[in-house]
Amino acid sequence: MSHHFPLEPDRATMAEMGGLVLDHVMDFITELTDRPTSNPVGPAATAGLVADFLAAPPEQAGNLKELLGRLGLAADCALETAGPGYLAYVPGGGLYTSALAEFYTLAVNRYGSMAFTAPALVALEESVLRWIAQDVSGLPPGSSGLLTTGGSMANFSALVTARHTHLGEDFGAGTVYVTPFANHSLTKAARLAGIRERNIRVVPCTDDLRMDVEAAAALIQSDRAAGLRPFLLIGSAGTTHTGTVDPLSAMASLAQQENLWFHVDAAYGGFFGLTERGRRRLAGMEQADSVALDPHKTLFLPFGTGALAVRDPARLFAAHEGTGDYLQDVGSSGGLPNYAHLGPELTHEVRGLRVWLPLHLHGVSAFRCALNEKLDLAELVYDKLACVPSLELPWRPDLSTVVFRIRPHDSSATAVAEADEATRRLLDRVNATGRVLLSSTVVGGRQTIRMCIVIHRTHSDRVAEAVELIIAEALKN
Ligand SMILES: Cc1ncc(COP(=O)(O)O)c(C=O)c1O
Repeated sequence: MSHHFPLEPDRATMAEMGGLVLDHVMDFITELTDRPTSNPVGPAATAGLVADFLAAPPEQAGNLKELLGRLGLAADCALETAGPGYLAYVPGGGLYTSALAEFYTLAVNRYGSMAFTAPALVALEESVLRWIAQDVSGLPPGSSGLLTTGGSMANFSALVTARHTHLGEDFGAGTVYVTPFANHSLTKAARLAGIRERNIRVVPCTDDLRMDVEAAAALIQSDRAAGLRPFLLIGSAGTTHTGTVDPLSAMASLAQQENLWFHVDAAYGGFFGLTERGRRRLAGMEQADSVALDPHKTLFLPFGTGALAVRDPARLFAAHEGTGDYLQDVGSSGGLPNYAHLGPELTHEVRGLRVWLPLHLHGVSAFRCALNEKLDLAELVYDKLACVPSLELPWRPDLSTVVFRIRPHDSSATAVAEADEATRRLLDRVNATGRVLLSSTVVGGRQTIRMCIVIHRTHSDRVAEAVELIIAEALKN
């Protein structure tokens, strides 16, 4: 059959192809620990590979073994975003079992966005969403949401829902409140949702980098007095800069008092709600109207899975519902959600399986343990680095992100500029080892290095190595 219909390989061919891919992937994963953190092929080979891969597809059939060989080169020509040394930005390691689930999902190719087409698989996705909304975020029974491709899309749908709920169609006077440390996907979402840029209010923070709730209250009142329509207060459950959690309980009270939608961007921090420490530090998240979480960050999933949890799914539906005559044959959803009506996409795959399979296979406790390990590691790093006189660690980590920089010799502008330069040098030198990759940000005008411990493959040995490398470099100052 495969001779006549090459798009339909027979069983033996499928087994052979599957075996080749599986072998290739297992080699890749078992070698992750020893791979360098940044592009081992170098700039010249990168340029060649990039040019090769821009080529159009051939007319004739290729050979899978050869193609996998080429793919291996492409995967090498990259930051090692899946390995234990990747501590930059907000990482996502990628669980093997989630990749297996995704293979299954794509192979059976069920339609995931209308419940009547695959009700049990939609129920499976719904179980994941209820778990994320209720067990992880702490929202009440009845809460659920939508699986998205990432935190940005979750923030976007939250924004659209808040706008629709509070302002209806005339939203020109609507104002939104964020801190300077809100992820840029939030201000982008506000713009995409039609909110005027000048109506995105940046509320100052207190010295500990958390929203100044009194300043927010004053701003909301003065905006209202000026005829504007405040409708949305946004808090971060772990900022991308420093992993800081905003005062969510006080913000929830303010939102309630002022009749605003309260959205929490927990794309980085939300899943720490599975741990006792995390739950304490995220207190107030359970009072939100909506919460964005990223399984592809702190649930260790491969890139491509975000989640929006909402207190009242009817609001999500009201903001996103859409239909057409060609959908007249759609059957009853049997009490399940039609995800096509809860977000911007009509078609989406059964997105839940890549979360469901790892949860059912490993059990929730495996995730709780791994998250506790990351919190412990961050505390350890903080304690060790805080003992180094040439380093400055102004903020103890709320979650698994540790930030530090070189301490200026005095408070003069020259000394601060020198310290900033030394901080950049330290970052470059530590990263040049190829054992760990850190990234940086700017806080209060100062160059600041971040170590974000999120990869499930990162354990105490690699973190201890990172600490040694940092201390060795810091001592040169
Ligand atoms: C706090 C926070 N919110 C939102 C996002 C955006 O999420 P995504 O990259 O999944 O779209 C990020 C990404 O790092 C983040 O750290």
